[in-house]
Amino acid sequence: MSFPKDFLWGGATAANQYEGAWDVDGKGASIDDHLRGGDGIHGIPRQVDIEFDPDAIYPSWEATDFYHHYEEDIALFAEMGWNVFRMSINWSRIYPNGDDAEPLEAGLAFYDKVFDCCVGHGIQPLVTLSHYELPYSLVERYNGWASRDLVDFFFTYAKTVIDRYHDRVKYWLTFNENNLGWSDRGTMLSTSMLQGFTGRRDEIHTTPQMRLNALHYQFVAAAKIVKYVHENYPDLKMGNMDAFLTSYPYTCDPADVLENQKHMRQHNWYASDVQVRGKYPAYAKAFWREWGAEPDIQDGDLELLAEGKVDFYSFSYYMSNTVTTHTDVEQTEGNMSMGGKNPYLKASDWGWQIDPIGLRWTLNEIYDRYEIPLMVVENGFGALDEVVVEDGIERIHDSYRSDYLKAHVETMGQAIDDGVDLIGYTWWGPIDVVSAGTGEMRKRYGFIYVDKHDDGTGDLHRVRKDSFFEYQKIISEARGA
Ligand code: BG6
Repeated sequence: MSFPKDFLWGGATAANQYEGAWDVDGKGASIDDHLRGGDGIHGIPRQVDIEFDPDAIYPSWEATDFYHHYEEDIALFAEMGWNVFRMSINWSRIYPNGDDAEPLEAGLAFYDKVFDCCVGHGIQPLVTLSHYELPYSLVERYNGWASRDLVDFFFTYAKTVIDRYHDRVKYWLTFNENNLGWSDRGTMLSTSMLQGFTGRRDEIHTTPQMRLNALHYQFVAAAKIVKYVHENYPDLKMGNMDAFLTSYPYTCDPADVLENQKHMRQHNWYASDVQVRGKYPAYAKAFWREWGAEPDIQDGDLELLAEGKVDFYSFSYYMSNTVTTHTDVEQTEGNMSMGGKNPYLKASDWGWQIDPIGLRWTLNEIYDRYEIPLMVVENGFGALDEVVVEDGIERIHDSYRSDYLKAHVETMGQAIDDGVDLIGYTWWGPIDVVSAGTGEMRKRYGFIYVDKHDDGTGDLHRVRKDSFFEYQKIISEARGA
């Protein structure tokens, strides 16, 4: 394999899906704490509850309880050979209402312990500042990211945690997958809520005007913190994070090729062009015309975008889809998206089409465009796992997950050979966590099984799956051990 010796190997999680302890030590409610679980296989979406129902289950409340298991979990990560661990900070653990005058010391102290534990195991944390998380109070009082006020609230929060942890955290990501503001699923209430793009007072915000503004405010907020870091901590590295929704023209009909170009711009390039190049792309105006709205660009915003360009590009990659102008193509699910079925690909139980070659293609496309270091910060396979007991020991024979992993690692190696400057890989959900899209536990991505189920039962004990040992082997071989 072609991976450099210092390549970053690890896994990725998010506080809202993993941490639990939703109201412990003064933490405020987050947007995701108001979401129930759905059923992804049968197309039942997550329900948003403004008021909590005492009889309902809210999956993020306990999740898989990293809060109380972090030492055990990080030790397991180290056993696999990781040197990086992607996680996110819960904004509402630091500022319970989002705009409090002072941060909560108990919340800050929790992440001190987590980062110290990582460093003690030779693992560097890679931290997402905002991963589908926002203090719910900001939604109630400001309509979430529909309000420009959030730029300053976010900056205060981000500055607080970077000032505190800069000695242990070198790599930071701003917003998780904000390019999904335009995905097909982005207009669903639960997805809007996950992105903090919806408000209690208006209940649902799906207008193009609101989305353009919310995204613009996030771009400005991201640029503001990137600029602050560059001026104050020149050794730190700041990245964007996009959900790369790779798509191909379904046919070689030029109309399909053109339609796919538009799809790629809207879903993939619009957000990253701003964050990597520091300005809106030329084609943005054509979209704004089509959508009948323009973002609320105020004096100083464009200068800030130019000053806050990221140092590296990070993205998630799970599947690919097809785009067509023809109406007879069967549709299937993707990551917060829909697309045409590809007859050359197989799909997971949730309809996500498995496409390792697409990862090589995607890495080359992104690197050709930006020529800055890349990280694959999410890639993974959600599946129904079965626990079997053999000689009194619990085992999970998840060869399907190992196959997916091996195939994608292979094409990443090929992309490096192609010339791509790929510096790291973090598998999504290396330990079972709540699914973001569906809120399900049964959609498992982990190399480590957690005894937690959709009905809220389970004692949270951890079990190494077969894929745990596969990843361990891959990392050790890649390092030439
Ligand atoms: C990514 C998100 O889009 O996909 C994660 O950043 C999410 O939060 C992951 O969990 C997998 O999606 P899902 O819906 O299967 O959990």
